Amino acid sequence: MKSNIEARQRERIYTEVHPSAVVACRGLAAEIATLIRTRAAEGRNVVLGLATGSTPVPLYRELIRLHREEGLSFRNVITFNLDEYHGLTPEHPESYSRFMREQLFNHIDLPASQSNVPDGRVPRGEVFAWCRAYEQKIAAAGGIDLQVLGIGRTGHIGFNEPGSARDSRTRLVTLDSLTRRDAARDFLGEANVPRYAITMGVGTILEARKVVLLAWGEAKARMIAQATEGRPNETIPATLLQDHPDVRFLLDPAAAAELTRIKHPWLVTPVEWTPPLARRAIAWLSSTAKRPVLKLLDEHYGEHGMADLLTEQGPAYNLNIRAFNEIQHTITGWPGGKPNADDSHRPERASPHPKRVVVFSPEPSDEMLGMGGTLTRLIEQGHSVTVVYLTSGNLAVPDEEAMVAADLVLEFATSQAGGAATAARRVRDAIAAKQSTAKGQDTADTRRLKGLLRRGEARAALRNAAVPSGTERFLDLAFYENGRYRQFRATEADVAQVAAVLRELKPHQIFATGAGQDPASVSGMCFDVLRSAIQQVKTEGWWQDCRVWLYRTPDKAWAAHEIDMAVPLSPAQLTQKIQAVYQHKSQRSQMPVFEPGLHEAWQQAEAAARSLAKTYDALGLAEYEAIEAFQRWHDDAR
Ligand code: GLP
Repeated sequence: MKSNIEARQRERIYTEVHPSAVVACRGLAAEIATLIRTRAAEGRNVVLGLATGSTPVPLYRELIRLHREEGLSFRNVITFNLDEYHGLTPEHPESYSRFMREQLFNHIDLPASQSNVPDGRVPRGEVFAWCRAYEQKIAAAGGIDLQVLGIGRTGHIGFNEPGSARDSRTRLVTLDSLTRRDAARDFLGEANVPRYAITMGVGTILEARKVVLLAWGEAKARMIAQATEGRPNETIPATLLQDHPDVRFLLDPAAAAELTRIKHPWLVTPVEWTPPLARRAIAWLSSTAKRPVLKLLDEHYGEHGMADLLTEQGPAYNLNIRAFNEIQHTITGWPGGKPNADDSHRPERASPHPKRVVVFSPEPSDEMLGMGGTLTRLIEQGHSVTVVYLTSGNLAVPDEEAMVAADLVLEFATSQAGGAATAARRVRDAIAAKQSTAKGQDTADTRRLKGLLRRGEARAALRNAAVPSGTERFLDLAFYENGRYRQFRATEADVAQVAAVLRELKPHQIFATGAGQDPASVSGMCFDVLRSAIQQVKTEGWWQDCRVWLYRTPDKAWAAHEIDMAVPLSPAQLTQKIQAVYQHKSQRSQMPVFEPGLHEAWQQAEAAARSLAKTYDALGLAEYEAIEAFQRWHDDAR
């Protein structure tokens, strides 16, 4: 239908959008396998440049599978990793050296002498010489044949932060504060994140014969669009890849979502103007032209690449009214449907009433952040609501909080009688031992205590939101309990647990989050588990009467055109929601900062709900204090 080249006219880097990270990685792994086998047949080596982070994990899993099941040998492979935190030993749980061993090297037949990861232990005074030697080693190996890259939220590649020169070489760098904040979760607190790292330079990366950058999930979408469509500049180091003769980006749909050809296809190609596309374009036009929908004129359509819509379906007056009404109909104070009302223009059906509603929360607090006000409304409007917490969330509890709890248990138990004191003492000792060496993983006792802490907070928050006690469930899914960030792996057992809850509760409405998130993140993985569970129950009769609504946590609010249901909150309801979020005390300052100055989870939740109200106001709809928004999810979506 549309010319591919035309659609890609703004892209300065070749991008491929795959259905999922797993599918994208299967293709790349096959390409790597062919390269390795061809070279092996010629008696030659292959030099691979490797990356760390969640992103390449599916690639490494597929390479391991090829080794195990299809006999792919890595004996003729030499690897060089991009980077390493400075100051970490190779045993530190967050060291990239350990990551590579756990994620790849330990599972394939790559000789140990042929893998190279920058050494975080090199003393400061020797780093310069060490880095030169690393470069020389790459050159002596014949240079990198294929470099795998991820991308950081600052647009960094490797650890080449904004400001890195195009001809920079392997060196010691200072980490950006945003990068350190993003790593805070892995290091159990920002204070533990190293300040420096050793990284290959942009120049080193550009010398690789082929570069493949991978990105999954909506958190990467903005950076991917800028790296692909922006001019090359050193403030976004990934843009410098545009100069490379053989580079491509492999994306999943969520990471590709901000590319012009996907977000605003009408700007680059002729499009088929379906009603949803027209609504999306008109909402965009309203915000771009800074005019409420009903005040858009023919010339605004003409000036912003929408002349054909005007010709086909105009004039502006008609288009405006239609879009305005459609957006108006997304607003409802009845998230579970309004009983005995005409529901032909309402987002949710009137009957049955009351409904059985299940709210899935990947980690305690997600449900409050994303839909605390709506939760309260559902209860007030008589629905039977069950909040299901999918994971315990224990990994996100700082040690200090656990210490306070352990002290409390200990004092209480020793002043009373019984055996809790021994366990509490073990937790205290384990945390204290962790602080004296490199911060290690938590013991089972500690994780349990931290998980219980989050249960307590979740219950306090529900009480604040007026949700009756006893309606919550804690599933503590096994993938989380047995895993760590970046290393989660959901199994059939997780899916079976969620499917069992669905079968038992037979909901009419499900609220969930995590669609479009990085598939390796907790919420992304929880959504995949839910989706698989839905596959198992979708032939059952009750499912035909069930609707799934997606909510989002404050890190990424829906844009106006993505919203199918907008639930307004009054000032009092917003205050109640914030107080509920506030109960998640262990999560203070645990969230990545999305807007400067908003460090606290409750601040972010408040800002997100207010800004959605402003979005609706700017479109020319009623002015509310705050809004929580939802998107209808269909099985085939994404
Ligand atoms: C770190 C690494 C980068 C990586 C980035 C993104 O900063 N040094 O090489 O691309 O994180 O990490 P993730 O893949 O977990 O999103």
